[in-house]
Amino acid sequence: MTACALWGLETALVTVEVDVANGLPAFVVVGLPDAAVQEARERVRAAIRNSGYEFPLRRVTVNLAPAERRKEGTGFDLAIALGILRASRQVAVETPALCLGELALDGALRPVRGAMPRVRHAATRGVRSALVALENAGETAACGIDAFAFGSLRDVVAHLEGRQRAAPSPVPARAGMPRHEVDLADIAGQETPKKALELAAAGGHNLLLVGPPGTGKTMLARALPSIMPPLDDDEAIAASAVHSVAGLADPAHPVLAARPFRAPHHTASHLALVGGGSPPRPGEVSLAHFGALFLDEVAEFSPAVLDTLREPLEERWITISRAGGAATYPARFVLIAAMNPCPCGHYGDPDRECRCLPEAVARYRARLSGPLLDRIDLRAHVPRVAYDRLRDEGRERSASVRERVAAARERARARLRGTGGRANADMSVADVRRFCRVDTETEGLLADAVRARRLSARGYHRVLRVARTAADLEGSEVVRGDDVALALLLRAEP
Ligand SMILES: Nc1ncnc2c1ncn2[C@@H]1O[C@H](COP(=O)(O)OP(=O)(O)OP(=O)(O)O)[C@@H](O)[C@H]1O
Ligand SMILES: [Mg+2]
Repeated sequence: MTACALWGLETALVTVEVDVANGLPAFVVVGLPDAAVQEARERVRAAIRNSGYEFPLRRVTVNLAPAERRKEGTGFDLAIALGILRASRQVAVETPALCLGELALDGALRPVRGAMPRVRHAATRGVRSALVALENAGETAACGIDAFAFGSLRDVVAHLEGRQRAAPSPVPARAGMPRHEVDLADIAGQETPKKALELAAAGGHNLLLVGPPGTGKTMLARALPSIMPPLDDDEAIAASAVHSVAGLADPAHPVLAARPFRAPHHTASHLALVGGGSPPRPGEVSLAHFGALFLDEVAEFSPAVLDTLREPLEERWITISRAGGAATYPARFVLIAAMNPCPCGHYGDPDRECRCLPEAVARYRARLSGPLLDRIDLRAHVPRVAYDRLRDEGRERSASVRERVAAARERARARLRGTGGRANADMSVADVRRFCRVDTETEGLLADAVRARRLSARGYHRVLRVARTAADLEGSEVVRGDDVALALLLRAEP
């Protein structure tokens, strides 16, 4: 029987070989099984008996081949059970299908995490169909092979023996675009932060919003999904695979229709944010793959937890080292963070006095460490909105901003084809040199800014990447002085 192992998002087909030999009754599993796979013995034994079959009172040996890597999780149960029934001649047929499922003691077939990447892998290896639990039917059918879904081991056997044939599960429809909770037109004023949000969506730049309480920071961040560019098919599959591994795929719509937007609370643990555990699960940074990660009240997160974001922000993936070897998950997301400028929230506010001691303000800001802040290209102040602006009309709606964003992203993508980058934020230093040329006058503006603000070389490149996105939003092939000025404006110190 064929099963599929999963490490992080890495997969390999596993052949489950079963031998039933004369000798004292025993049941051994070899081929580097972990504890959960060892426990398959108890589940499989009970499931076989409780499904009305006999568990052979002989020496049963199960080998998971190839044996060189540790096998994790409960996804091998079905293949092991079918292998035993076949080896003990209680079932006459061998199936070429991928067998993927956990067994309950009563013989019910349960879903497994990571069905989507496993089935996709099997499909690339020529496997044409899969036997899975009902809950995994959608994920399996979405991968382009015949998905046969069952509620129990008995139903699987009845299907294989032709007594009660199941029909392949229908391919689930892609979900429509979700309704967005906030539209940019709901937000009064805040023209500069809105522009920063648009740049973040178009170029994949990270964004920090800083301002006093109640000015719309959370609202602005929550409007980001409404202007994000559409997910293309590759991105949708890659992002959905992570959700499948986390056990979060929607059975009715397993392929994501829109970019994910993850907003973990500031009490989130290290494990929840970056992933881990045994077997490992992806964390929020990976669930946000090809989408956005929103850290509201970012200064309230534990500095140690925030520090773990450095690797995914720089590398675009996260490695979780563990006893059984490392698991790697992708983590290419736009970071959007919001905070007050100080503990009371009114530092720098022209209308309200800040009551914080200078040391308290400094300590509060220091929570966002230099290295993390350095990876945030866009920093926008979100000021209090004047009363008369609260009722103004004619604000631009998200749908129209989204069109501009999609066009800019497309322009950048065409330019970056062959560089491995998908958005302007991905440009290497060589790409910046090649694609962000500016005229002498603008070069002078940049030189002044580097001197006056003591911009690092990295900061200089980041300004140019943002300027490139500003030009793309305007449909300009050259980066102009105005684009650089906007990028510099949106690099204010928090
Ligand atoms: N610019 C704005 N336009 C329209 N409504 C706004 C605006 N700013 C704030 N509001 C109103 O105030 C409420 C609070 O806004 P929001 O939660 O976004 O503020 P915040 O800046 O995140 O505040 P805090 O610092 O306390 O988290 C919103 O639900 C909305 O009703
Ligand atoms: Mg808020």
